[in-house]
Amino acid sequence: MKIIMARNEQEMSRWAAERIIETVRTRPSLVLGLATGSTPEGIYRELVEDHRINGTSYKHVVTFNLDEYVGLKPDHPNSYHTYMKTRLFDHLDFLPQRTHIPDGNAADLAEECRQYEKHISRFGGIDLQLLGIGRNGHIGFNEPGTAFDTRTHVVRLTESTRKANARFFHRKEEVPTHAITMGIASILSSRQILLLATGRAKAEALRRLIEGPVHPDFPASALKQHPDVTVLADASACRYL
Ligand code: GLP
Repeated sequence: MKIIMARNEQEMSRWAAERIIETVRTRPSLVLGLATGSTPEGIYRELVEDHRINGTSYKHVVTFNLDEYVGLKPDHPNSYHTYMKTRLFDHLDFLPQRTHIPDGNAADLAEECRQYEKHISRFGGIDLQLLGIGRNGHIGFNEPGTAFDTRTHVVRLTESTRKANARFFHRKEEVPTHAITMGIASILSSRQILLLATGRAKAEALRRLIEGPVHPDFPASALKQHPDVTVLADASACRYL
């Protein structure tokens, strides 16, 4: 696991965006795994800015998002469909049929999970996966205790994750109780992984990731079993390292 420390969030976002842009330029049909949350927002802004100025094209890029809430309509302001549309997809030249986000409203959620995995395989697997990290070490929505061999599945969100994500909703009760997430094995199947962390709130999680054991109690520790993971973090998130 390689750790790169940026001075601040802007620098982290610029470096991550540069890596994505460079990869898309050398490999236009890249299969890119996308994350949501506050951490990648600056990166998406950088990609939009670069597209506007330099015209980097995403026409051939295929994307797969990590997760989506169960029960929110795609156009709900807090759905990850809306997040991706407003922060990224509406501003770049992605082809809608090449962007994928789990359908949290599918009548048969288990079938949706199976189909999502099939789709990823059909495109040859994910080349580069962006990841955030939850304070409790969750990746995607894989909460502590998730087995490392899980593929895309439905999860019940922990109270701590619902509380952390309540800031995006009017009231905590509105935060969905379940989500669909790519599993830990799905994430580990990506060829390259870029884990992003910013701010003091993530410092303890990064310390546990680097110093702690590999154990399902801390899902991100599974990344230590992957041969090509880069942790890109700002100085605040690295304060305990
Ligand atoms: C959310 C998302 C994760 C994200 C994490 C951290 O629950 N499902 O994919 O990485 O929490 O979010 P943030 O970047 O807002 O701290």
